[in-house]
Amino acid sequence: MEGVVQLVNRLQSAATLLGDNAASDKTLPSLWELLPSIVVIGGQSSGKSSVLEAVVGKDFLPRGTGIVTRRPLLLQLVRLEDPNAREYGEFLHNNREKMYNFEAIRDEIENETNRYLKGKGRAVAPEPIQLTVYSPNVPNLTLVDMPGLTKVPIDGQPKSIVRELEDMARSYIKGDNAIILAVTPANADLATSDALHLAREVDPTGERTIGVLTKLDIMDPGTDARDVLQGQAVRLKNGWIGIVNRGQADILSKVPMEEARKKELDFFKGSRHYSDLKNVGTGFLSTKLSTHLINAIRKQLPIIQHSINDGIINLDRELEALGGPAVTTRGAMVHLILQLCRQFEEAFAKSVDGGKGGGEQ
Ligand code: GDP
Ligand code: NA
Ligand code: MG
Repeated sequence: MEGVVQLVNRLQSAATLLGDNAASDKTLPSLWELLPSIVVIGGQSSGKSSVLEAVVGKDFLPRGTGIVTRRPLLLQLVRLEDPNAREYGEFLHNNREKMYNFEAIRDEIENETNRYLKGKGRAVAPEPIQLTVYSPNVPNLTLVDMPGLTKVPIDGQPKSIVRELEDMARSYIKGDNAIILAVTPANADLATSDALHLAREVDPTGERTIGVLTKLDIMDPGTDARDVLQGQAVRLKNGWIGIVNRGQADILSKVPMEEARKKELDFFKGSRHYSDLKNVGTGFLSTKLSTHLINAIRKQLPIIQHSINDGIINLDRELEALGGPAVTTRGAMVHLILQLCRQFEEAFAKSVDGGKGGGEQ
């Protein structure tokens, strides 16, 4: 499993190289677009950024009441082999300068958002901020944090924003390779969930959608979400996962991530409504995501390979045309990609034959 996920990451890097070099032929589907990513959608303040942070296991995203996330954040997690390696982040817009302070990373997300939107005179924008986080404590994953959906403009936003936010979310989840985390707060009406509505539209069979129910700790006294988590209220093919993240007071008093996870565990263990359910907690969500990632790769594998082959044929043609000294680097690249493909196939075959891809409930 770990091996496959790591290979996806290396393929993504190779894809970026390929993309750059095949720029002359835009008819090629970008390999990058074919690789799986996990996209978090949901209403404003439903807990999207909090869920993402919980999966990553790090504090680094702007969170809060209202529309805090105003541009998509394309987050590539890269796992460092050395368990003692220092964690850092790099922004594409910042010449990939290494940043070791994650509070500064969060500030930079906010500052860059403001700079960009002010320059464009807009309230939100679909162009993503691109951040890569290197750490021994993260899985190799590509995640996208989206601005929240809304039915009516708030905070003095223009009226067009409702439509704009929806179009933006749709564009990020419509591809077959996107695994959709549809976030809905348990203290709101499921029937009006923007996330579910949009997920159904682009993924009618529910194959790629995982329902995440947040804020189970702050439901009205006397109510619970047991029926939802058991799939009795709204059926989802991949089921629901119940989550408890930090509330606004916890954020303000800087409750650490580990403590928040412990509180979450205690909440579910001590609850007479949920203590017997398997599909609760951030740990369960992470496991589930890994399974889906493998399945997404399995489905995309023939197309990915086809695309790689096309890319190589294209490179060969370019090589022939150039004939010159560029041969070594390009030749090396083709070699690398072929090697990656082979490793990918082997590791993938192993993980599938191993039959450990289960865990569906
Ligand atoms: P986003 O706008 O969807 O990205 O949501 P955020 O992650 O920024 O969270 C919005 C607000 O809801 C913040 O004040 C969070 O502290 C709070 N919040 C998120 N998840 C939970 C939860 O499970 N329980 C509680 N009590 N508060 C939560
Ligand atoms: Na928010
Ligand atoms: Mg957010």
